[in-house]
Amino acid sequence: MKDSPIGVFDSGIGGLTVVKEIIATLPDENLIYLGDTARVPYGNRDREVIAKFALELTRFLLGKKVKALVVACNTISATCLSEIEKLSPVPVIGVIKPTVTKAVEMTRTGKIGVIGTRATINSQVYEREIHAKNGELQVIQQACPLFVPLAEEGFVDHPAAKLIAQEYLSRFKNSGIDTLILGCTHYPLLKELIRSVLDDGIKLVDSAEPTAEELKKVLEVGDLIKTSLEAKRVFCVTDAPERVLQTANIFFENKFPGKLEKVSLEVG
Ligand code: DGL
Repeated sequence: MKDSPIGVFDSGIGGLTVVKEIIATLPDENLIYLGDTARVPYGNRDREVIAKFALELTRFLLGKKVKALVVACNTISATCLSEIEKLSPVPVIGVIKPTVTKAVEMTRTGKIGVIGTRATINSQVYEREIHAKNGELQVIQQACPLFVPLAEEGFVDHPAAKLIAQEYLSRFKNSGIDTLILGCTHYPLLKELIRSVLDDGIKLVDSAEPTAEELKKVLEVGDLIKTSLEAKRVFCVTDAPERVLQTANIFFENKFPGKLEKVSLEVG
């Protein structure tokens, strides 16, 4: 079991931002990544559709005998984590709780901004989790539905992307937030752009590092840490691996840590 891979999944390439941090935190672990690039983005879809897709991704990874599942997608974590937990015999790590814990520790003004897909923002899950930790904190939220396609296209510093960021993030101007949660695993790809349109001094929190730390804790508690060296990493997408590799390479500075394969989710 210790040598079994960790399964990580997302609607597309966003979960690779979490993978990068998992590799830094747990460099010897075997990994299998699954990005549903054929159907991304999920964030504008109904909850039932997101759950159906997410359970297909879960079944695929469980079929690969993973020892833990990381739901490296805020949209899936926000809408159907409990259904995935019900299906999975192995530990499931979502991105929201670890991200909230970090943001709540970081804020000094008591005002936290949250950006995410429509499904994540409409679920109100960030507000609920932040208030579960501290009911006094103020939460200002904004859905940014065009950010995922921009990230998938690699439009990370395009002037059009800047205009869109200015439009979405204008509500945070002089709002008093000192911490902004990037509540979508695609958004770290747009970090510099997002920073460039925000007031100075606002700290950005994304899901990658807190989720990797949470995964490490869960593996330690379950005595599941791999002891041998040399990690095997497999990266699967449901469509267009060449295009995905191009964008992923922007983020991995042309050192993508494995091979990218196209897979089908159909059973049988
Ligand atoms: N990376 C996903 C998230 O964290 C993107 C969602 C989408 O596909 O719209 O929310």
